[in-house]
Amino acid sequence: MSLINVIDLKSLGDERGELVSIEGSVDLSFEIKRVYFLYNTSSNCARGFHAHKNLKQLAICVSGQCDFILDDGNSRETVKLSSPTKGLLIDNMIWREMHNFSHDCVLMVLASELYNESDYIRDYSGFLNSKSCNKETK
Ligand code: TYD
Repeated sequence: MSLINVIDLKSLGDERGELVSIEGSVDLSFEIKRVYFLYNTSSNCARGFHAHKNLKQLAICVSGQCDFILDDGNSRETVKLSSPTKGLLIDNMIWREMHNFSHDCVLMVLASELYNESDYIRDYSGFLNSKSCNKETK
């Protein structure tokens, strides 16, 4: 199964322009508890480099583009986000990195939980260890 799960977000556009609506628990499997966005990211900067123990997210490039790398500990896949009507679902326990931000990139993220630093796994070897522990306890 692919790690890349991109959902189509319907635009309710008309002659005035476009409008996209996303409802927690209706369009997503989770309630939206937090929204954050990244902008003015330096083009030579990469971000992310972490996984979350429980958090689920939907990432949307509402302007510009950037590349996501997702990694489940077994395989690594890349996807370019470049449309405000495409949302990348990122499950818990998935390592993510964001690269190649365009100067106009506004990356909006809808998150299932409030910010909680203890939910982060910020070192890759710790992430791989947690994955193999999970496998052993299954
Ligand atoms: P960080 O998660 O390191 O960003 P990235 O994944 O893009 O590398 O977050 C940067 C800083 O912002 C860090 O000090 C934590 C803080 N932060 C919040 O306070 N609330 C939030 O919702 C997020 C995502 C980050």
